[in-house]
Amino acid sequence: MMNNAVFSWRNVWFRRSVVALAGLTLLWMLVGFVWLPSVSVGFASEGVWASICRAAGVPAAWSPQSPDAVSPPVSTHVVLERTMAAPAPSRSVGRGATLALNCTMCHGSRGMSGSEAPNLAGQYREVIIKQLRDYQEGQRASTIMQALARNLKAQDIEDLAAYYASLPRPHRVETAPAQVPSPALVRVGAPLRNVAPCISCHGGVDQKLGAPWLEGMPRAYLVAQLNNFRSGARANDSHAQMRNMARAMTPGEIAEVAAFYAGDDAH
Ligand code: HEC
Ligand code: HEC
Repeated sequence: MMNNAVFSWRNVWFRRSVVALAGLTLLWMLVGFVWLPSVSVGFASEGVWASICRAAGVPAAWSPQSPDAVSPPVSTHVVLERTMAAPAPSRSVGRGATLALNCTMCHGSRGMSGSEAPNLAGQYREVIIKQLRDYQEGQRASTIMQALARNLKAQDIEDLAAYYASLPRPHRVETAPAQVPSPALVRVGAPLRNVAPCISCHGGVDQKLGAPWLEGMPRAYLVAQLNNFRSGARANDSHAQMRNMARAMTPGEIAEVAAFYAGDDAH
């Protein structure tokens, strides 16, 4: 009888503890399912309900999607393949050289740009193929390049890439008798900020398929591209690898690495 009275709703202490327990449970659910997931990236894009489902361990595909939900934007449609980098009999350097007459105005007569357009001389084949196809499909924005790329056939792109890859590659101009020390970001990156060393992908130590040759590029072009990755205005890098790194870099670091790769002495 005593027990019944204790667990009775009429007992004011019982009522209070039930209310307190319910309140605490609700609070921790808000923290665990709403607040904590909201701190992680992608929360806003998927909505509160999807995040609650995810926090509770529901596989992403189960969470309800509104009928008009759009699939996440793709950064590029180009699938990089080793064969793109290899010379192939189906690619003609000679034909590429003829087609490249349309490009000399900005990219220079031998692929060395005198303006702020990127150099193409010695650029990796697969980079030229990928970038031209990204312009063609609107995955990389540039009024000039999108208009030009639209008129190129697949074979034209292959031949242009073969031609430009065959030209001598610019090296960073060494300005002082002693070698210019490379910035720490270039050599070792910034592990705490998830910035990998540039040389692990862009040549020097290793080249990752699709990572462009940077040495000798115009400084303004390098700064512009890093800022575009940083702001997301350029988003054609697969897995956001450059966007993530550029976001972690300060404007000062961007200026420093750009000056280094451009070979300018002002750094
Ligand atoms: C009127 C000037 C102009 C002409 C002509 C031109 N380009 Fe470009 N090109 C540019 C500029 C500027 C960029 C950089 C645009 C950007 O910010 O994405 C560029 C970028 C590129 C890139 C990307 C390079 C990289 O490192 O990411 C490739 C590849 C390229 N052009 C190839 C060509 C080819 C091939 C032609 C000839 C069919 C051509 N371009 C003609 C101005 C030009
Ligand atoms: C994990 C590999 C990786 C690392 C590390 C890396 N990059 Fe990149 N970077 C890429 C790839 C891949 C691309 C080409 C993206 C695309 O497909 O458009 C790229 C593109 C670029 C471009 C655009 C060049 C052009 O001509 O279009 C610049 C500039 C650049 N990276 C600078 C840097 C700098 C500076 C660092 C070091 C702080 C760095 N990257 C580190 C993989 C890397």
